[in-house]
Amino acid sequence: MDGGRVAVVTGGGQGIGRAVALAFALAGDVVAVLDRDGAMAQECCAEVAAAGGSARPYTCDVSEAADVDATFAAIGRVDVLINNAGIGGRGILGGDMAAWDRVLAVNLRGAYACSRAAAPRMRAAGGGAVVMISSTRALQSEPDSEPYAASKAGLLGLTHALAASLGPWGIRVNAICPGWIDTATHRSFQRRHAPEHSEADRAQHWAGRVGRPQDIAEACLYLCSEAAGFITGQQLVIDGGMTRKMIYV
Ligand SMILES: NC(=O)c1ccc[n+]([C@@H]2O[C@H](COP(=O)([O-])OP(=O)(O)OC[C@H]3O[C@@H](n4cnc5c(N)ncnc54)[C@H](O)[C@@H]3O)[C@@H](O)[C@H]2O)c1
Repeated sequence: MDGGRVAVVTGGGQGIGRAVALAFALAGDVVAVLDRDGAMAQECCAEVAAAGGSARPYTCDVSEAADVDATFAAIGRVDVLINNAGIGGRGILGGDMAAWDRVLAVNLRGAYACSRAAAPRMRAAGGGAVVMISSTRALQSEPDSEPYAASKAGLLGLTHALAASLGPWGIRVNAICPGWIDTATHRSFQRRHAPEHSEADRAQHWAGRVGRPQDIAEACLYLCSEAAGFITGQQLVIDGGMTRKMIYV
């Protein structure tokens, strides 16, 4: 039965993570909202409560394994984990090794630390589901994005490795590769001014629009549901067709 589970969402304070937290809460799950920004986590939980759902905020930096372990101990039971916390950073054209280390520590090491903490709790609960929020940048690139691309590609390898290890415990592990999703952070990086996307922005997508956080939240709900019980170790690209669209100029 879906609903009535404990769902952990990392980086749940805003953007995609907040939409995921709302979606699971409205489906009847209790959501643990983890974010390094505790005020944002609280804001998310207030939004969930106002919508009639149940969520608890936790201030946690996923790149700190001890912080992760203590947070999961406080959470207790875990049925679902959405490894969504992520940051960007400069690459070989402008970044230093500290930028590489930070992006890998949050995006990849953080997802592994949270999965390690969640797995025995899921096993004790009789099974569970993990979703990694990777990126289409695991599959294609713009210049100067090496740490981010490597971290997101690393998540795809981590996904099938964990699916192999944790399958016997009844735990499924899948990844989502979002394309261009309209969040405040994405807008600031891309210097694009949503919601007024240009015709060229929309035309990059066969779906005729830029993505919304809810597009990713719906897929997380599905991948963590019993309906997806035969899906594990997979990666699902959700990008309105952007990475399949052939462009000649
Ligand atoms: N928006 C997009 O177009 C897009 C596309 C592909 C993939 N993604 C991925 O989706 C995820 C969410 O993206 P978003 O646009 O909603 O980002 P966002 O910046 O709006 O939200 C990220 C959240 O993660 C939190 N966070 C950052 N570092 C953390 C840490 N060390 N520990 C705990 N929390 C931390 C932030 O405080 C923030 O609340 C990221 O992993 C991102 O790489 C986004």
